[in-house]
Amino acid sequence: MVVPGSQHIEDKMYHPPEGLQKDAHVPDFNCYLELYKKSIEEPDVFWKEVASDFYWKKPPTGQILQYNFDVTKGNIYVKCMEGATTNMCYNVLDRNVKDKNLGERVAFYWEGNSPDHHEAITYGQLLGQVCRCSNTLKQMGVRKGDRVAIYLPMIPELVYTMLACTRIGAVHSIVFAGFSAESLCERIMDSQCSILVTADGVYRGEKLINLKQIADEALEKCREKCLARLQTLLPDPYQTSPIKNQIKSRLSIPQQNLLHSRRQTPWDAACDVCWEEVMGQVSEQCEPEWLDAEDPLFILYTSGSTGKPKGVLHTVAGYLLYTSLTFKYVFDHQPDDVYWCTADIGWITGHSYITYGPLANGATSVLFEGIPVHPHVGRFWEVIEKYRVTKFYTAPTAIRLLMKYGLDPVQKYDLSSLRILGTVGEPINPEAWHWYHEVIGQKRCPVVDTFWQTETPRSGLLLQVFRRPWPGIMRTVYGNQERFESTYFKKFPGFYVTGDGCRRDKDGYYWIAGRIDDMINVSGHLLSTAEVEASLTDHGAVAEAAVVSRPHAVKGECLYCFVTLKDCREFNRTLVDELKRQVREKIGPIATPDFIQNAPGLPKTRSGKIMRRVLRQIARNEKDLGDLSTMADPKVVEVLFNHRCETA
Ligand code: PRX
Repeated sequence: MVVPGSQHIEDKMYHPPEGLQKDAHVPDFNCYLELYKKSIEEPDVFWKEVASDFYWKKPPTGQILQYNFDVTKGNIYVKCMEGATTNMCYNVLDRNVKDKNLGERVAFYWEGNSPDHHEAITYGQLLGQVCRCSNTLKQMGVRKGDRVAIYLPMIPELVYTMLACTRIGAVHSIVFAGFSAESLCERIMDSQCSILVTADGVYRGEKLINLKQIADEALEKCREKCLARLQTLLPDPYQTSPIKNQIKSRLSIPQQNLLHSRRQTPWDAACDVCWEEVMGQVSEQCEPEWLDAEDPLFILYTSGSTGKPKGVLHTVAGYLLYTSLTFKYVFDHQPDDVYWCTADIGWITGHSYITYGPLANGATSVLFEGIPVHPHVGRFWEVIEKYRVTKFYTAPTAIRLLMKYGLDPVQKYDLSSLRILGTVGEPINPEAWHWYHEVIGQKRCPVVDTFWQTETPRSGLLLQVFRRPWPGIMRTVYGNQERFESTYFKKFPGFYVTGDGCRRDKDGYYWIAGRIDDMINVSGHLLSTAEVEASLTDHGAVAEAAVVSRPHAVKGECLYCFVTLKDCREFNRTLVDELKRQVREKIGPIATPDFIQNAPGLPKTRSGKIMRRVLRQIARNEKDLGDLSTMADPKVVEVLFNHRCETA
């Protein structure tokens, strides 16, 4: 294990404790090298072995992995286990309950936002609930291939619904429950979902979020957009069903732990359906739908550099093989483990390493609804002690946040159960790494740093570009193959481009340096500068906006926005607050800008392109701006330095 940071720190090597290493799936470097070589030199043999652990209704007919990564040779595609049929839900539940006799094993310890709310769910119970939900969805008209939008907090029903979709062959599109009505609407429209599953609301810490209300607003927006679309389509009387996007019904889950109940939630009996009522009326048995290996499994939206989110599409067999394998090896999964990934299922980390990877391995996990600082700042450590967590996986931003509170909140709890720690989402800085290793891992737990993306569940080594696919790589941008090819494959024909810069050190380790495109990584969440700029310029006072990143002690990076106002508009605190609110409302609280600066003029090239490099330097107060010879009007730089925001 090497530690990120300066050359000095990099040189220091840390080895896992002997005991842990001896019993590991991959006990030493030679064993790793052997596995790695096999996966590269004999991918068919390698993946066939992984697949042999799972149930295939029909075996594959051709090569395990087929692909074209070269745009000059035709369409880009990746196929895994062609000809095979299977079912994800069957493999992660029925197989464990029936073939492996794990019905009594706890699949999830659900821990609510309040420590008083908790529940243990066994594999047997999970299967029963998922079948009920599958029957409910079918009763509501959902069929194979239909898209189902899920806008739920971290409650067991989120897992029931996503697995129910996979059982009946529907495609889930989970929208993180922190997104705004506008963002939810955009995602529902793009993937043309036929139903939406939501809850009345959720407490995040002390704060109540009325999800159902936001969901209602989102659907109202969908309706308006459909109508507008319909009007533009009217001249053509032969257009078929132009309102494909209209959501016919939504399923709502009353949350017991909310102070208000469904009676206080706006309810439209014409289309709203109550979860508890329907779930009680259906059977606990549901035959799985046998799907082709390359049938879609889910769509998940990620930021795009043009501002419009991309619906990343993953397929059944490859996702099963890849997440199960990476979970097993990266976290060295053992049957007595209690594993906890603190991500939200609304992000790809949660899809892969809360739901699919752990369940495929018959793992016992913690499913956590809350936040790290509620009701106190030792909550994570309290939960580790409560469930005797052995493998703990979180983000550098959470570590940086909790480091601030010192040792006291950690030392109150017994963390001796921990064996392996993981981090994900952004580069980890040396201070955070050391604190995690020494204070949380008590110097005995290896820290695994897992790089991957919504597009590419992949852990371990990486290159900035990849020459070959692996089963869990995205298959397309939903409804937009052209965008898929141009975003990832056009830059270097024959290679998949991740969008990240990286370097290789003398020992052959790769160090991720961060994004090289117009994306900003805020607390491990990718945000597109173009999307934030579009929501700023939507405000009547703003003529032009440019957004860049600035380092942030907890979030890693934060948003620094330059706005040029229209004539006669005054830049003041009220406007700044309005602009921040507008971005929150349009995208969601994660995108709230930290800084908004008045920019009477923006640095531009003679051809009119905004010079973002210069803006980034101004945001960071770096005075040495280098070569400005291409700038149309260098005077704007001084003005911008004078208007700099020091504090948020
Ligand atoms: O820039 C890389 C960064 O997060 C991006 C992917 O973001 P997203 O699709 O939202 O998925 C996040 C969950 C994996 C990558 O392009 N990133 C992710 N993990 C790491 C990382 N950067 C450095 N180190 C990591 N471990």
